[in-house]
Amino acid sequence: MPDSASGRVLDDPRLASAIRRSARVAVLTGAGISAESGIPTFRGAEGLWKKFRPEELANFDAFMANPELVWAWYRFRRDIVRKAEPNPGHRALVAWESLVDKFTLITQNVDGLHARAGSKRVVELHGNIETDLCLDCGRKRAGEAAGETDPLPVCPCGGRLRPGVVWFGELLPTEAMAQADRAASGCDLFLTVGTSAVVHPAASLPRLAKSRGATLVEINPEPTPVSEYADFTLYGPAGEILPELVRWLER
Ligand code: OAD
Repeated sequence: MPDSASGRVLDDPRLASAIRRSARVAVLTGAGISAESGIPTFRGAEGLWKKFRPEELANFDAFMANPELVWAWYRFRRDIVRKAEPNPGHRALVAWESLVDKFTLITQNVDGLHARAGSKRVVELHGNIETDLCLDCGRKRAGEAAGETDPLPVCPCGGRLRPGVVWFGELLPTEAMAQADRAASGCDLFLTVGTSAVVHPAASLPRLAKSRGATLVEINPEPTPVSEYADFTLYGPAGEILPELVRWLER
């Protein structure tokens, strides 16, 4: 395994030059970028999927079979997200966006922390935990206010509401996926940050970017399938490495 990124980042002239000459940047983030904000990841030793079963909580059939349980799980996660604050990794991506011609931030996260940090162009592939979706009228609505605890929230049209996130077995929002594909296909630099890169189709974006000629950089404390073909893997926390890269870019 390569060394930790600290120190190495600035030392590697190939990485430095790839970052400096990249005017079109695309970034794919996953749960790891919000780990330093106190939001649990899904996989790994402390991951949510170690304690809870996705087949009971994150798919449509599970919701229809036991909507109260699924709502309780999303309320639990909404509470965590509402108490969390963006961290230096989120803020570094805001700064990066202001420094290049074209910057697309693609996220698998549903926590909304990129937008709260100030990122302007955010493509949410898996929806947003702060929205509800009506099964009858199909409208999206702002999620219930903190403190409301109706075990089965209902739309003003009378229909049943579900969390506005993408579940296993569901298609990703078409326009978001198209934007992500375009950004990956047309960037000079593709960063993958804090994702285990095992959930498709998001996990295929790094390879798409690389196949179209982008330099591929991964930031993660652990190796992932992307590490095998990334041009650079920077092992460490996003909240330390991203600010380091941006400080370097600003100089
Ligand atoms: P995972 O939980 O699968 O992976 C989180 C990744 O973040 C791991 O590779 C960790 O090593 C890494 N990580 C942990 N701390 C980090 C830090 N401080 N800085 C950088 N990286 C860190 O989360 P995702 O890849 O986002 O989908 O998971 C993808 C999808 O699977 C989620 O969107 C969700 C989940 O099931 C749905 O619910 C549809």
